[in-house]
Amino acid sequence: MLWPEEAAAQTTAERLAGALLPSPDAVIELHGPLGAGKTTFVRLLLRALGVQGRIKSPSYAVMESYELPESAGGGSASHFDFYRFGDPREWEDAGFRDVFAAPGLKLCEWPEKAAGQLPPADLQLFIELMPDDSRRVRARGDARLVGALQ
Ligand SMILES: Nc1ncnc2c1ncn2[C@@H]1O[C@H](COP(=O)(O)OP(=O)(O)OP(=O)(O)O)[C@@H](O)[C@H]1O
Ligand SMILES: [Mg+2]
Repeated sequence: MLWPEEAAAQTTAERLAGALLPSPDAVIELHGPLGAGKTTFVRLLLRALGVQGRIKSPSYAVMESYELPESAGGGSASHFDFYRFGDPREWEDAGFRDVFAAPGLKLCEWPEKAAGQLPPADLQLFIELMPDDSRRVRARGDARLVGALQ
């Protein structure tokens, strides 16, 4: 996939939202360097699922959680940024084990920083920042989810 600009990422987010409905329950990893557009894609996906209000980058808190509207099953979505995640004890202490054991959508930036803890992903997106500011994106994982993006 190629995202020449944010509008293309929005199209992908809307397709993915459609494939996750009626009740989103998946672990999605977002790979890519600093500034690749991971948070931006998470925002577009949560918006496509009907989440309103502020969607902030969870950098310092590591996790931000959202309630999905009834139109998206009424479950929960948890957005993680593991960039500063270091101590594996934090996994227990912060309750992440419980979050991943429960149903719901889990969106993970910098999953490689929590590789020992994270369960296998349903979908992995690899975002590559190109010199012309476009993004090249590869998807891997559940065939139904990968297929829905095209
Ligand atoms: N698909 C896109 N097309 C063009 N610009 C984009 C796209 N996605 C993100 N951007 C721009 O790139 C910048 C960085 O995006 P973002 O914060 O989403 O990156 P990130 O991958 O989450 O970075 P970090 O690793 O620091 O969390 C933002 O200014 C955003 O507007
Ligand atoms: Mg980010």
